[in-house]
Amino acid sequence: MADFIYNPVVMLPSEDVHFSDEELVFTEKEKREIASWVAKYPTADGAIMHALWLAQEKFGFLPPEVIRLTADTVGIPYSQAYGVATFYTQYYKEKTGTHVLDVCTCFSCQFCGGYDMLHYLEEKLGIHKGETTSDGLFTVREVECLGACGSAPLLQVTNGPFVHNLTRKKIDALIDDLRDGRIPPFVSVTLPQDETELGGNRRSDAEAVEGYQTPPVNGTVK
Ligand code: FES
Repeated sequence: MADFIYNPVVMLPSEDVHFSDEELVFTEKEKREIASWVAKYPTADGAIMHALWLAQEKFGFLPPEVIRLTADTVGIPYSQAYGVATFYTQYYKEKTGTHVLDVCTCFSCQFCGGYDMLHYLEEKLGIHKGETTSDGLFTVREVECLGACGSAPLLQVTNGPFVHNLTRKKIDALIDDLRDGRIPPFVSVTLPQDETELGGNRRSDAEAVEGYQTPPVNGTVK
């Protein structure tokens, strides 16, 4: 039977604990940063998303012990922080590969071939959604709407750049780029407002704007 680690909220089998007590700390600088976010809001829970983001950047993902550390540092119940962390797919609850490839299969993307793209990617990398390649480079996930339905089907790379109007060719190019260490730039697509300007092809006529980055990386929006 597995040993269990005491936790006031959850009992975790010891093999499910990923970080030792020594590792499981925020630095004084990080604590001050979190405190400054807490001070900005009427109640501490306003800072939890930012704090979880910092925790994810530091630890790589958010297993229960990291969520609890973050909740304790912010000063809110574990259950509340857990609810936030598990609501958003952008927070990784499990260890991932170097690059997380999120393929949207929500309504717009599904209509435009999202599942074809997901299955092509699974086949190309030899893994199923939710799995990581044996070299640790890629994790593939199926996700809900990424908020850029106008350029469906869509793929997002590790909470960063979007690949719009996904095709097999674009997937091939993306995988080659990532294997060679080239991260695509974040490209924001703004659709023309006037239907007559669409020229009968909403997807390929979209205007692309480079240089916009979201969400915050290392706490800073560039
Ligand atoms: Fe895929 Fe909205 S449905 S981005």
